[in-house]
Amino acid sequence: MPCAQIDADLTALNTFGLPAKARHLLRVRSVEEARQACAFLGSEGAPRSSLILGGGSNLVLCGEPLDTVLKVEISGRRKCGETETSILIEAGAGENWHDFVRWTLDQGWPGLENLSLIPGTVGAAPVQNIGAYGLEVSERIESLDALDLASGELRQFDAAACQFGYRDSVFKRPSGRWLITAVRFRLPRHWQPLIRYGELERELAGFGLDDASSPTAHQVSDAVIALRRRKLPDPAELSSAGSFFKNPIIEAGQCAALLAAYPALPHHPQPDGREKLAAGWLIEQCGWKGRRLGPVGCYAQHALILVNHGGATGADILRLAASIQKDVLDRFGVELEPEPEFV
Ligand code: EPU
Repeated sequence: MPCAQIDADLTALNTFGLPAKARHLLRVRSVEEARQACAFLGSEGAPRSSLILGGGSNLVLCGEPLDTVLKVEISGRRKCGETETSILIEAGAGENWHDFVRWTLDQGWPGLENLSLIPGTVGAAPVQNIGAYGLEVSERIESLDALDLASGELRQFDAAACQFGYRDSVFKRPSGRWLITAVRFRLPRHWQPLIRYGELERELAGFGLDDASSPTAHQVSDAVIALRRRKLPDPAELSSAGSFFKNPIIEAGQCAALLAAYPALPHHPQPDGREKLAAGWLIEQCGWKGRRLGPVGCYAQHALILVNHGGATGADILRLAASIQKDVLDRFGVELEPEPEFV
């Protein structure tokens, strides 16, 4: 049976450090325990407020007590196949994401280095299709196993069935139905560094390499770590959930009109002809960078990160987020969509 705790405090289990209680906290350490947890949910009737928890790094706990929280702690990582062109690696959903990335590099299996130092677990990575420095995890996922908490069936999803999009997947619609137990990654044998992201290229140039266009995967990982350490708050000192809003994608016509008024507007053409804007830039222009609202605020080094300066509740975060959304909408006519899940 999963290890169970009654009336558990969740403050230390979410990176924002927001307070909330769980009537039942079940620590799931194997597929078998996931099945048992699923049976427990069934025996209690339909779970009104159950939550599947990984590293708690993409979560806003709004304060209401939760009935059941399933904390996924399934471990394990191994090579499970190979072809002439690729290596297949499987990891348990509860593995720490960054440790897993560094482990793959240490084994000589590059491919995930651009996603170094992203907080959270292996099982949470596909849910919001984590991405950074020119790579989304969907580009490396071969398949995954997930338990349907509604039916108790364990199902394998290939990458197409995951319906990946920008910070999106089928596992968000609705969230809380699929408990991911293991993820398989296809890593390329003939690896090439992905350094088309300008900031990453500049960071590597500062490493003084003989050939800055051919860094090793470890060097790319080190550069990503250095960049993230500089730009994002240290979780040991300041609580946050990473980027709070998605970068908005707007129609080309609206982008052209905005550019006429704001020539410096950062924008990136998308394959479908639309344009992706930098939410951090929009928020900074509205004067929010470094500004506080009660115990929460916008991080001084990066306006896209909301931070808890201490003692905040979910309501404080919601109020700040709504104020920022209103200001950006009033000024630019652009809606910002939050990235984290609100529970
Ligand atoms: N910018 C500002 N002011 C700010 C912050 C950003 O003007 O305070 C502008 C700058 O023009 C900058 C641009 O925004 O060039 C983009 O900023 P950055 O390179 O930091 O990337 P981002 O779009 O803010 C995204 C991801 C991050 C990921 C980085 C690097 C989203 C929502 N966020 O941030 O992911 O690490 O790119 O690839 O797509 C996360 O999802 O939690 C996350 C940290």
